[in-house]
Amino acid sequence: MAVDPLIELRDVNKYYGDLHVLRDIDLTVGKGEVVVIVGPSGSGKSTLCRTINRLETVESGTVALDGRPLPEEGRALARLRAEVGMVFQSFNLFAHRTVLQNVSLAQVKVRGRKKGEAERRSRELLDRVGLAAHADKYPAQLSGGQQQRVAIARALAMDPKALLFDEPTSALDPEMINEVLEVMRQLAREGMTMVVVTHEMGFARSAAHRVVFMADGRIVEDRTPEEFFTNPHSDRAKDFLSKILKH
Ligand SMILES: Nc1ncnc2c1ncn2[C@@H]1O[C@H](COP(=O)(O)OP(=O)(O)OP(=O)(O)O)[C@@H](O)[C@H]1O
Ligand SMILES: [Mg+2]
Repeated sequence: MAVDPLIELRDVNKYYGDLHVLRDIDLTVGKGEVVVIVGPSGSGKSTLCRTINRLETVESGTVALDGRPLPEEGRALARLRAEVGMVFQSFNLFAHRTVLQNVSLAQVKVRGRKKGEAERRSRELLDRVGLAAHADKYPAQLSGGQQQRVAIARALAMDPKALLFDEPTSALDPEMINEVLEVMRQLAREGMTMVVVTHEMGFARSAAHRVVFMADGRIVEDRTPEEFFTNPHSDRAKDFLSKILKH
């Protein structure tokens, strides 16, 4: 896909003490591209996600967003970070705020929107994720799948240039997984740039432009889903696929 790069990691290395968790990572995600990251537990997928918006520092290499290197810290970093939304396995909603407030808060605090304007935008987004009728409920009154869709609406409310998902459906009961994946598929169709760590291979096949396979902190394969699933090159990927496609 010949597109403008939006996220660019060059030669990124990261350590936790002696543990070398990201090794010489080179990754470019183009505008509108959907990249699914897969790999065994501990291979560095979450760390890579967190590195993209500098929730983690790196020992060497560069991370750039839309052509600008991510600053080390300070307000410039906060501004750039707000351009990349993140959705985690645990939804991290504020328990004592309504759904509408959860989606509106950061719009007011970070984006400086007026309360009424933020709430209007929140209702639009809640409608988009199929939760218009639940705006005044509290998170505990929603199912896991509904809570995760609120978290997606909240991320979208910041008008991000890209969204990162770290195992967004792993904590959900099976019957709720699809409603979340469907929202993500819709975003992909609308051209949202997305980096998605997931074990949902159906989603990878149907929505991803590329599958990135990681093992031991390295990117071992970076190919189209079709190529990756039908003809993995590395033994690590073959082994991984045989395990996850079996269960
Ligand atoms: N805060 C931390 N301090 C020390 N080591 C860490 C920390 N976070 C992660 N690690 C280690 O870094 C390596 C990569 O972890 P990471 O969470 O990125 O893997 P992952 O691919 O997301 O795994 P999983 O599929 O289990 O979520 C692992 O060996 C992990 O134990
Ligand atoms: Mg992880």
